[in-house]
Amino acid sequence: MRETWTFHSAGQIIFGCNAALQLGEVAKQLNAKRVFVITDSILVKARLVDRIRGPLAESGAALDVFDGGEAEPSLRAAEACISRGRRFQPDAVLGLGGGSNMDLAKITATVLAHGGAPKDYVGEFKIPGPIRPLICLPTTAGTGSEVSAASVFTDTDNQIKVGILSNYLRPRVAVVDPLLTVSCPPKVTADSGIDALTHAIEAYTAVDNADFPIPPGEKTLYQGRHPLADALATRAISLIGANLRRAVKNGNDLEAREGMALAAMLAGLAFSNVGVAAVHALEYPVGGATHCSHGAGNGLLLPFVMRFNLPARRAEFAAIARLLGEDVTGLDDQAAAERAIHAVEQLRADIGIPLRLRDLGVRQEQVRLYAEKAITIKRIMRVNPRPVTVENLEGILNAAF
Ligand SMILES: NC(=O)c1ccc[n+]([C@@H]2O[C@H](COP(=O)([O-])OP(=O)(O)OC[C@H]3O[C@@H](n4cnc5c(N)ncnc54)[C@H](O)[C@@H]3O)[C@@H](O)[C@H]2O)c1
Ligand SMILES: [Fe+2]
Repeated sequence: MRETWTFHSAGQIIFGCNAALQLGEVAKQLNAKRVFVITDSILVKARLVDRIRGPLAESGAALDVFDGGEAEPSLRAAEACISRGRRFQPDAVLGLGGGSNMDLAKITATVLAHGGAPKDYVGEFKIPGPIRPLICLPTTAGTGSEVSAASVFTDTDNQIKVGILSNYLRPRVAVVDPLLTVSCPPKVTADSGIDALTHAIEAYTAVDNADFPIPPGEKTLYQGRHPLADALATRAISLIGANLRRAVKNGNDLEAREGMALAAMLAGLAFSNVGVAAVHALEYPVGGATHCSHGAGNGLLLPFVMRFNLPARRAEFAAIARLLGEDVTGLDDQAAAERAIHAVEQLRADIGIPLRLRDLGVRQEQVRLYAEKAITIKRIMRVNPRPVTVENLEGILNAAF
């Protein structure tokens, strides 16, 4: 079978140090007279909200700032933001923050346009049309939500992360200003950075587009691996290899911050078209139950899933080893591929990602339940390069325990 794929992105991407100064122009271009800014109290204290007030004021737009965002937001937390938005009646929504606030902005722009409640949109293709014009400014280098089609929440009733997927969720404008990430503390830099690495590795080693197993009559946003996404993902991997340790060690290293902001966005473009795979499927129940950050959960699980997938993706893993700076001269494919796992383990240890599930408070008897929850997330599981059974997932989790 031959491949057929499409590629989606944010409507416009503005990238670079001081890109946030262009926000006034962006608001004018969207004809936005009332901008609803969605952020959190930590970013108010870090004076990031102040940084966007001036440029937005130039456009003459009225602002309302919701600063009640929280890390790994629950569906319930989204309701508070939405009711504030209903009162303000914005003509544009702006998400300022990490993935958590940007995802909150996405669901708010959705509900303001189409009504209902956040839970009505959980799943794929549930959003019936364009949402309120959305501008996203990432303040972490990680999720790629500024360009992605996803919005992720914690379902506190069922202790699992849930996703809303729709190309309508891609922001109209992504303003990626690496200077906004400088105040990220080392743990946030590390966790979000390894999430970006997970996106890039899962996209680059995903099932091929030509073999993508979509049952007849089913539609899905993820399409499997294709050459455009490979180009983006491989560049992201090498940028992360060169810059993540530096950014964690010295938050003021602007070159490293710029490299990571670019990497996270490129990885976001790759995974949001190709898909993410078993690492993300397993992180959904682990993160939902332990409340670890999404990045920490992914970083912990990544080498264990890579070890499982290696037989299906030897050449790609060998390439990843090289992209992460490993010397693989003289090694055969198997040995070179193993160097990729080694490089990820080393990076994980160097930046302080937890190494074992038990470090997150997981108990061994919970492992089977997590595997059973993860296997049901079909839209993600089918992206994995090696077909996976619930026993396989249990094996991966036991290895990570
Ligand atoms: N939509 C997507 O495509 C997508 C992809 C991957 C992950 N996610 C989701 O995104 C969330 C994680 O996002 P994240 O990793 O960006 O972290 P985050 O948004 O949860 O932020 C983590 C903490 O860092 C703080 N912070 C953020 N930027 C800062 C800065 N510049 N200075 C100081 N503090 C700062 C925040 O206030 C927060 O307390 C999870 O809910 C995850 O499931 C979404
Ligand atoms: Fe992720």
